[in-house]
Amino acid sequence: MPKLIEDLRFTIYDLRFTKNKKNMISLLKKSIVTLTIVVALISCTEEKKKRVLNFPKTDLAAESLIPKPLKMIPTNDGFALDQFTAIYTSANATGYEEVGKFLAKKIKVKTDIDVQVNVDEIPGREGVIYINQSDSLELDTPEAYQIYITSDSVILNSNTAEGAFRGVQTLRQLIPETSNDTMAEYPIWTIPTGKIIDKPNFGYRGSMLDVARHFFSVEDVKKYIDLLAYYKYNVLHLHLSDDQGWRIEIKSWPKLTEVGGSTEVGGEAGGFYTQEDYKEIVAYAAEHYMTVVPEIDMPGHTNAASVSYPILNGNGKTPKLYEGTHVGFSTFDTRKDTVYAFVDDVVREISAITPGPYFHIGGDESHVTKKKDYIYFMDKVVDIVKKYGKTPIGWDELATANVDSTSIAQFWGSKENADEAVSKGMKIIMSPAKKAYLDMQYDTESKHGLHWAAYIPVDTAYIWTPETYEGIPLENILGIEAPLWSETISNIAELEYLAFPRAIGYSELSWSTEENRDWENYKVRLANQAPFLERMNVQFYPSPLIDWKKSKYSYTEIEKD
Ligand code: ACM
Repeated sequence: MPKLIEDLRFTIYDLRFTKNKKNMISLLKKSIVTLTIVVALISCTEEKKKRVLNFPKTDLAAESLIPKPLKMIPTNDGFALDQFTAIYTSANATGYEEVGKFLAKKIKVKTDIDVQVNVDEIPGREGVIYINQSDSLELDTPEAYQIYITSDSVILNSNTAEGAFRGVQTLRQLIPETSNDTMAEYPIWTIPTGKIIDKPNFGYRGSMLDVARHFFSVEDVKKYIDLLAYYKYNVLHLHLSDDQGWRIEIKSWPKLTEVGGSTEVGGEAGGFYTQEDYKEIVAYAAEHYMTVVPEIDMPGHTNAASVSYPILNGNGKTPKLYEGTHVGFSTFDTRKDTVYAFVDDVVREISAITPGPYFHIGGDESHVTKKKDYIYFMDKVVDIVKKYGKTPIGWDELATANVDSTSIAQFWGSKENADEAVSKGMKIIMSPAKKAYLDMQYDTESKHGLHWAAYIPVDTAYIWTPETYEGIPLENILGIEAPLWSETISNIAELEYLAFPRAIGYSELSWSTEENRDWENYKVRLANQAPFLERMNVQFYPSPLIDWKKSKYSYTEIEKD
């Protein structure tokens, strides 16, 4: 705009000194055009100001944010997200521009607005989203962020790009599903004003996907990452091997995937990730600030490996491909050097393409491994994992080996093992099957899932307190993980049926403080996730405990169209 006014001044100046009639007409025309543009721009700016003042009252505290932020201070006005909004990110702060672009991409998908990121000129109006790197001491963990929303601007501050990314998920959730078209000739999405101060309760917030019992494609895994990231998860644990399938290419032991990857539960075709596929998943997770934890389950749950290389087998039988769902019948031969050479190669190859700090070695349900052999094996494998610079994680049975506080136990079934882990000073990931297993059926009517640990309806999944569960001291708890075993699910729709909506509740259990969690309040916020889930084409289980919000994507509407 200042440039236009300048142009106008020069044109009028030229007009005063010109003698040529033709020139005069052309200059006159030019000044009229410029004047018209200036007047239009001024009236547009005026209209915007008026519109902002006339916003209906919005209430930040009433928004359906999940997980619920630590603190929210509403100021009951509105910020207009519209075609003039731009995003600016801190210059020279690693990762911030990418986070800004991620937000712009998600705004485009939701609203069809093209929001510019770090354009040279601030557009001729207010309405800017700033994503800033800040060294404020209040931002005391990497994932902490604060958002100040006024009618003029949104300022998202964080210490790291990871914190900015978590804050961006909050912003995405604050953008309404539909625009308010009554206030201007173009659509406006009203974001409620106020301040949000937020950080996670637990640093480890994960879900496990069993790609061994049934294989899931790279695209399926990416969709799961998209959904988990929206709810601020930061870990994806991939269960890459089991009796029914070996799912990751190991270049030094090619038969693992050629033979061991050829089957899955129920006799379907199986599959596996090449190392390039796995890298693609890891990179996609990293773009969503999620760490991939690879799991090679051993010394039990190893039939697929032993069929591929019978020399590894230790249960005294000739291994055959297995497509059933029994557990506890397989074991490696824990007294053979070849087995440790094999484990070394597998851990080395996978660690080399895993930037995250963890390597999961399973260790559960090794029912046919003698106790002393189990301990001997786990001790040696823990050392191999450490040799490749990773922190070992094992299911809670790992605590029975000679491990110390530098290994992590995942509490799934045995309080005794969890207590043993505590006595050894180990950190614990809370995944009690009775509460946190995503593959447990919701109730007796559930289409998929098992119920050996419990039926887990949506309220049971949410109403428990990981901070005090089974008396595990809070200082030992690293975080929460919701495992999704895949014996009964073979495609993404079935995966989504078991994972959603319960995975949404686990995000709140792991991010939000106990004081901020309340079932009655949560269930209303959960009901309001339906439009997002439908927009994402998630085949979630529409639990009758929830009064799901109807959206324009509901089946009746689609049929009417
Ligand atoms: C497990 O469910 N076997 C860890």
